[in-house]
Amino acid sequence: MTAEAIDLEHLASEAQAGLASATDEAALQAWHVMYLGRSQGRLTAVLRTLGGLPVEERKRVGAEANALKQQLEAAFETRREELQGAALAETVEQGWLDVTLPGRAKKIGRLHPITQTLRDMLGIFQRMGFSVVEGPEVEEDYYNFQALRIPEDHPARDMQDTLYIEQAKGRTATPLLLRTHTSPNQARFMETHQPPIRIAVPGRVYRYEATDATREWMFTQIELLAVDEGLSMADLKGTLFELAKGLFGQERRIRFRCDYFPFVEPGVDMAIDCFICGGKGCKTCRGEGWIEVLGAGMVHPEILSNMGYDAERYTGFAAGIGAERIALLRYGVDDIRLFYQNDLRFLRQF
Ligand code: PHE
Repeated sequence: MTAEAIDLEHLASEAQAGLASATDEAALQAWHVMYLGRSQGRLTAVLRTLGGLPVEERKRVGAEANALKQQLEAAFETRREELQGAALAETVEQGWLDVTLPGRAKKIGRLHPITQTLRDMLGIFQRMGFSVVEGPEVEEDYYNFQALRIPEDHPARDMQDTLYIEQAKGRTATPLLLRTHTSPNQARFMETHQPPIRIAVPGRVYRYEATDATREWMFTQIELLAVDEGLSMADLKGTLFELAKGLFGQERRIRFRCDYFPFVEPGVDMAIDCFICGGKGCKTCRGEGWIEVLGAGMVHPEILSNMGYDAERYTGFAAGIGAERIALLRYGVDDIRLFYQNDLRFLRQF
């Protein structure tokens, strides 16, 4: 036997004895440093001398030393578990730990019901070929109104009571406001893209509004825009039916009515029958039996030509869908204001 082999055997038995006499975490760590530590460890030192040995020796001693290293690491872990087990047993014995108590459940967060609804709607549109894009919440008067055929003195501005942003004195730039709808993104997108276009634009919108069960001063819309050759009202209806069926199933009743928006011609609104009163009329539907969820129509040809498109060749449809109203109907919530009161008892139900 060579000198190194004897050393290893000796080292092994000393290490085992040392481990057995370690009775706490600090002693265990000290032991680890002494034998296996990266700079001072005794076994590490042996491994470091291998380079100076003749080839045959190096192979044999190297193999033995590495085997011992693994063995000691394993013994270290075993001893550690032993000590931890003993400590736990002692704790239980002294009554500090009641292992029969139920565990503490991890609190798992969830998405806000409006976010869930938005994502479900966007998923339906994406499957029909629409891409999701976004635009600014602080918007220019031009995009929010003028580009949509709502000039300064147009009465349609009164339909959307607006929150203007006060700008620094002396600034003559276009007035800024909190967008009252997601429709400005129609103009923003068309300005920089050519047909065919199919986009869905989700986002928050703001109105200076007296709130009630179905109206909030801040809410969420998805703007839908498609421009292509040969699009008609039938495509618009088909797309919106698909949304309603995807969200509510086949049995839900839907109502289309003529409506006026300066940027579409013709214009419609779509309503869904009130889930609370079944159409008889109640507080949530304000006695109407129907809840309006979106405005829509064929993009006004004047807007198409303003964007530089050939309005003889291209047609388009657009819709602005209120996510909160959809969520009311979907979850059977009777007051839109609940969504933004941050009451966890309410939010945890979704
Ligand atoms: N922007 C309109 C609103 O918020 C809805 C709408 C969008 C109507 C697109 C027609 C076309 O009231």
